[in-house]
Amino acid sequence: MRIGVLTAGGDAPGLNAAIRAIGQMATRDGHEVIGIANGWAGLADEYAGRRLETSDFIGILSQGGTLLGTARYNLDQPEGGRHRVLTAMDAHLDALVAIGGDGTQRISNWLAEHGANVVGVPKTLDNDLLGTDYCIGFDTAVSIVCESLDRLYTTAASHHRVMVVETMGRATGWVAAMGGLAGGADLIVIPEFPLTMDQIIDHLVTRRSKGYGFSIVVVAEGINLETLGGTELNGVPTEGIGGVRLATRGVGQFVAAQIDEHGGFEVRTTVLGHLQRGGSPSAYDRIWATRVGAAAYDAVAAGTFGVIPVVRGNEVVLAALTEVANGQRQVPREIYELCSAFF
Ligand code: F6P
Repeated sequence: MRIGVLTAGGDAPGLNAAIRAIGQMATRDGHEVIGIANGWAGLADEYAGRRLETSDFIGILSQGGTLLGTARYNLDQPEGGRHRVLTAMDAHLDALVAIGGDGTQRISNWLAEHGANVVGVPKTLDNDLLGTDYCIGFDTAVSIVCESLDRLYTTAASHHRVMVVETMGRATGWVAAMGGLAGGADLIVIPEFPLTMDQIIDHLVTRRSKGYGFSIVVVAEGINLETLGGTELNGVPTEGIGGVRLATRGVGQFVAAQIDEHGGFEVRTTVLGHLQRGGSPSAYDRIWATRVGAAAYDAVAAGTFGVIPVVRGNEVVLAALTEVANGQRQVPREIYELCSAFF
């Protein structure tokens, strides 16, 4: 079989571990592995597939990013991209493994519904793909947030400051919540459980009255500015997939400015940004990326398409792409309440 592999959307640490798992297992079994460059662009634009050899997989397990390259590519603007992908698959591939988040898996699902042999692999740093406890890249991001909070803690305590830390998280607050829990955040603000600016400032005032000389406030970049008393910016740049480029909304800066304006606190802001996506994957991301990658290969080898290996509990199971393709998995109340117990 000619098995294509692509990575689409934002990169994430652990992508190469998944590519290696799929590639090594497929070449071991005598299949041809075709790496598609730059996500859907490599199928919808000029065909950009190249045969991967065993040597391509050497040394990539520990590397961040994706050896295939990736892109935020909108197949629907202009229209017709999805059909061009179908045509390219007919011409060049027997099967395709598409590694990506909800946008990618929506396309995978559409392709499968239109007869293409597609298997997905869950990847998003935001960890909010429906139907899976784990997405490639999340664990590394949480570790980076945790380490950052540890470092900010010492300077916050020394200067008796409020540190506002903005994390990634487009629609949900998994990175903020779990990174904040691991790093001992004194307040976490995420889209699922919105707070007003008054509530944030009241909390800081209460902490200070209890004798806490500093506070670390973690905010997810996707929180609603209007709930905080701000206005959504017009003219914010959008990405290829049509979403707003969230970092440019400056929610961390906004929250910090409001605290500053209230008076009585010295405030600083840190935007963790793409540091959360860069560098070497954690051991956990390598292990689970390898497991979901291997399961995706097993599905392809068995001729099972329209599915995606997901993690539930401690197991990898196959879910239908339709199950993950629409919507986001949100941080549940019990997790946010656990975080709140330490505010
Ligand atoms: O979707 C994953 C993600 O990391 C979001 O958390 C973030 O808003 C976005 O990607 C950033 O995308 P880009 O790298 O295209 O700026």
